[in-house]
Amino acid sequence: MQEAKLRELMDQMTLQEKIGQLVQLSGDVFNTGDLSTGPQEKLGITQEVVDNCGSVLNVIGADTVHKVQDQYLQRSRLKIPLLFMSDIIYGYKTVFPIPMGLGATWNPDLIREDYKIIAEEAVTDGGMVTFSPAVDIVRDARWGRCLEMPGEDPYLSSCFAKAMVEGFQNNWEKGKSIASCVKHYAGYGAVEAGREYNTVDMSERRFRQEYLPPYKAAVDAGCEMVMTSFNTVDMMPATGNKWLMDDVLRKEWGFDGVIITDYAAIQELIGHGVAKDKYEASKLAIQATVDIDMKTNCYSNHLQPLIENGEISEDLINESCWRILKLKNKLGLFEDPYFGCDAKLCEQTCCKPEFIEQANKTCNEALVLLKNDNDVLPLKKTGQKIGLIGPYADNPGIFGMWALHGDRKYTITVKKALEDVLGTVEYSAGCNVLDDTSCLGGFGNIPSLAGVIKTGDELAEDEAKALEIAKNSDVVIMAMGEHILQSGEGGARTDITLPEPQKQLIRKVKATGTEVVVVLFNGRPLALTDILEDADAILEAWYPGTAGGKSICNVLFGDYNPSGRLSVSFPHNVGQCPLYYSQYSTGRPSSPDSVHNTRFVTHYLDVPNEALFPFGYGLSYHKARYSNLVLDTDKMSKDSTIHVSVDVTNESDVAGIETVQLYIRDLVGSVVRPILELKGFKKVQLQPHETVNVSFEITEEMLRFYTRSMKYESEPGDFKVFVGCNSMNLISTSFTLK
Ligand code: BGC
Repeated sequence: MQEAKLRELMDQMTLQEKIGQLVQLSGDVFNTGDLSTGPQEKLGITQEVVDNCGSVLNVIGADTVHKVQDQYLQRSRLKIPLLFMSDIIYGYKTVFPIPMGLGATWNPDLIREDYKIIAEEAVTDGGMVTFSPAVDIVRDARWGRCLEMPGEDPYLSSCFAKAMVEGFQNNWEKGKSIASCVKHYAGYGAVEAGREYNTVDMSERRFRQEYLPPYKAAVDAGCEMVMTSFNTVDMMPATGNKWLMDDVLRKEWGFDGVIITDYAAIQELIGHGVAKDKYEASKLAIQATVDIDMKTNCYSNHLQPLIENGEISEDLINESCWRILKLKNKLGLFEDPYFGCDAKLCEQTCCKPEFIEQANKTCNEALVLLKNDNDVLPLKKTGQKIGLIGPYADNPGIFGMWALHGDRKYTITVKKALEDVLGTVEYSAGCNVLDDTSCLGGFGNIPSLAGVIKTGDELAEDEAKALEIAKNSDVVIMAMGEHILQSGEGGARTDITLPEPQKQLIRKVKATGTEVVVVLFNGRPLALTDILEDADAILEAWYPGTAGGKSICNVLFGDYNPSGRLSVSFPHNVGQCPLYYSQYSTGRPSSPDSVHNTRFVTHYLDVPNEALFPFGYGLSYHKARYSNLVLDTDKMSKDSTIHVSVDVTNESDVAGIETVQLYIRDLVGSVVRPILELKGFKKVQLQPHETVNVSFEITEEMLRFYTRSMKYESEPGDFKVFVGCNSMNLISTSFTLK
């Protein structure tokens, strides 16, 4: 529809109809079932509110979308279609690895293609807006939601944020693009002590420098929507935070799309204690230019009284309504209120072989080999007795918490993939993922996430069989991990090790004398110190998605030389959290050349400061050596660049992929600077014994930060440049900015 026509339509709307556009209700209201993460109270809304409601939460399925839309339009006076929004985060029916795994690919271009597939599948089944990508910076492994994010680093996460939005929205190719809503704006990953929904508080400098860039990258890539986060920012919850929403997002960044709250977040302003009641809460949110109230009756029941009492201007409602109508119009809903969804088309589209192949390709790159003592990997397809043990070995639900619609029919489990390689496989689950799941709580109406818990004889038989297999095998693959509900929303833990029954089983299996290859399924950086001695090899598989088992076997047998590199630091133990490579300089560094005696430096008495497995880390079957790090000049001016060149040599007989990482350290600043910051990376293919010359450009822009006067600028001075295969294994040189 032409914009003038859309204006005419809006001019015909009553105030209640306009407010209706600002209200999002969930499936229960439309008799389609509910999928809730928040308060389950009765909403307290009238039929009129339902009839005017602008959008629907988490209702998907082509037939259902047709039905709900038809019923709605029949009752709607002005026939303004509903907008259907869902959480389609890292896969629809075909599931890709969790975003923490996607981060480990260091390959945003690949992920852009994945997100096109996700969009295509979802749109055929009624998706119009997806609440993705989530790009909160994650540095605290206690937080359950680490799995949803691409990692701990602002630069790397920004590259993914951009690619994900571009993939979803796919240049608005008809039937192949979905509107993207970046979340959770802002800073949610920094919840204190990793506890879900807890306070976030930090300096504005740090917030802008480290936490805001990925959201900004998503906005710059054109994402249509932004979701507010549950947490506080400078003691004001994001959802009522005018500075964050209006001053930064809209005015500074120029975002004129739709802002939606997270689940019931306006009402939660009362819980936060910044509003006395829903009336006050609604006032704070609308004044912050928050457009859509997800799943409460705050806006529906309180915006009109606020206007009538002269507390807010009607212009705010008009502006929000206009933004929402513009989005509906952009999606073409006035012409096709179903956005092209069609059950038959969905059936033909979802889980097509080429989509599963792409999931396989991505998962290959996402797997991270953490340990490989005595080259126990790759395994041999013949001449080696290989057993399979573990509760994740034959589990089709290897999707993680936020792939709610993934089609388990297509999952390639480890067992299935291993049988494809070896014919028959000796297998036992060996133990439960967890013996007691009572602490986990439920998630909406999805019982399958809970899993089956074995007890008594059945459990004992599983263990006995596992140990028998171990005794008879040269090597066993142990598919172990966290319970799906131990991570994800509401999944904070203070014990970030593998569940106890699994640790015990690994110990017993190792005691049989067999070689142990642990494959991990988990949604956070785990503390693996406990199992390190007993595992000869450890492969981090995250929740790998539909093609997971196939990729795992590709890597285990060397059909794919592992190339994944961590985008999050794995701690020695939980006491190190929050942990990240780009720590700030301290007055008493723990370096060998410190002037302080060894006690009075920044350190722990019991573990190193550094990660057990650092950011950027991952093993491969080839061995690479970095040398000849050369700059074309060691003097830079504000308008010149420096050319960095390094040789990367494959010193093995195996071809492989190196992720060459560039870091910079600003040695002296007007404020304290990080000891390392990632500034670039390149994935390069190396043939056996080949040397490849890799180059980067350093620009003045890469050296900017929020200086003492809070200007985003570079400062003259000395810088160190580091290049290497991970954040702890680097060679360096230096230059001066004039
Ligand atoms: C989560 C969001 C999600 C929303 C809608 C909330 O509980 O925090 O990430 O998009 O629910 O399902």
